[in-house]
Amino acid sequence: MAKQSIGVSLPVFDRLDTDPVLSLYRQIYERIRGTILSGSLAPGTRLPSSRTLAVDLRVSRNTVELAFTQLEAEGFLVRKVGAGTYVASAIPELERAPRRLGITAVRPAAPSGREPLSLRGRHTVGAAGRAEVWVRATSRALAPRIVEVPNRRLFARGLPNLDAFPLATWRRLLARHARLWERESLFHGNAAGYRPLREALVGYLATARGVRCDWRQIIILSGTQQVLDLAARLLLDPGDAAWMEEPGYLGAWGALQSAGARIISVPVDPDGMNVDTGIRLAPTARLAYVTPSHQYPVGVTLSLGRRLALLEWAARAQAWVIEDDYDSEFRYTGRPLAALQALDVGGRVIYAGTFNKLLFPALRLAYAVVPERLVDGFAAARTLVDGFAPSFMQAVLTEFITAGHLSSHVRRMRALYHERRDLLLDVMARRLGGRIEVKSADTGMHVAGWLRPGSDDREISRRAFDKGLDLPPLSRYYHTRRPRPGLFFNYAGISPGDIRRGIDTLATLL
Ligand SMILES: Cc1ncc(COP(=O)(O)O)c(C=O)c1O
Repeated sequence: MAKQSIGVSLPVFDRLDTDPVLSLYRQIYERIRGTILSGSLAPGTRLPSSRTLAVDLRVSRNTVELAFTQLEAEGFLVRKVGAGTYVASAIPELERAPRRLGITAVRPAAPSGREPLSLRGRHTVGAAGRAEVWVRATSRALAPRIVEVPNRRLFARGLPNLDAFPLATWRRLLARHARLWERESLFHGNAAGYRPLREALVGYLATARGVRCDWRQIIILSGTQQVLDLAARLLLDPGDAAWMEEPGYLGAWGALQSAGARIISVPVDPDGMNVDTGIRLAPTARLAYVTPSHQYPVGVTLSLGRRLALLEWAARAQAWVIEDDYDSEFRYTGRPLAALQALDVGGRVIYAGTFNKLLFPALRLAYAVVPERLVDGFAAARTLVDGFAPSFMQAVLTEFITAGHLSSHVRRMRALYHERRDLLLDVMARRLGGRIEVKSADTGMHVAGWLRPGSDDREISRRAFDKGLDLPPLSRYYHTRRPRPGLFFNYAGISPGDIRRGIDTLATLL
């Protein structure tokens, strides 16, 4: 190696800061490493001895030795007994490239004009930005920025009633399970989920939703969104046709879009998704996404005739049906309708349910009930994506179910949401004087309020947002057809006083 000594004074040898975060050794290490990477210390340059540097920097020799040893281990320095310490000659070109490019951060250089994201990556970012479910696209940022502050606007979408959640009971269960936590609890969990939770769900799903399954068919996931994501990964090739309700849930639209599916928008009418139109548009589609018990966002239910037609088509076309059953526990006229999965004899339905909406969104626990032949695929995909669901929360939730708290919470919420819905419809009728029409409101946690034809629902939604109301425009849920203008009202998470206040505000806007 062509050896040369340092002739110039470099910032690396200036006095160290009293840095509250970085130790002295780490500061020396960072400075020397940064100076080498920036190209200011050329390969082969001889460094002062650790003794000299320690005196200059007013630190102990051991501190400098520690930094030198680390830098040597990482390949930045070469040390020879009796010959001194040198900048290594073999610093990879890529690492030092930034200096030539005039940038200071170390980033692999990309050929100019080349897209930083893959096509799939761009589909994902585009779909998430369009969906605006929990991300907000900013004009300058490459990727959408995550909204980290809680949505405290009146009628905030996606929220159950958090004031009525039995927090004291939940805390008690958390504390009990924390005490039970032991060495055995620290191991890896099962990718398909915690067995006692899967077993507990069999009974709950049979009574509450008519879902028939063996516990092995239940896969515990982090959200309906993960069910959709894994289903799209496992079941769709890029370009495959997938039916999607129009208007329809943007989270599902985004998952299909990001998997590169060719989305076939199938219109929704008072009987739910028009299955005949779906068959006419794409008879050989690979997959259909439906919200049969409570269509999102319109609120209608899929008629029995259409349910049977959908299942018959799926069996014939060897297609999969994703049933998103996100809030159907809450039906206010009669008993909840049985799930579509209960009618499926051909094993074509992937049923998705979520505790994030039933209990609270921070929980991040949901489940898929999948046909037997898909169990291994879902477990494998979950392993690859993020391993498995946190064991602790699964154990707590299991006891919440087996001790009967889930059923009683659902019963109480059904009564509470029923009251809120009645109040909302009453206040809307009195204050909005027919300017908003609600048609289907016998299930769930939200209603679709239709505006008069020609209304600009996006503008109204924007103005409402500025006044503290979260009322997404229904036109946003359309992609191909002329949208019917309207607003989306989530009444589950809002107090009676706020319902009145919110509708008063809207009345002045309209
Ligand atoms: C139609 C629909 N499906 C599913 C969910 C729940 O999604 P996750 O479990 O991913 O939070 C929501 C939440 O708002 C929803 O509106």
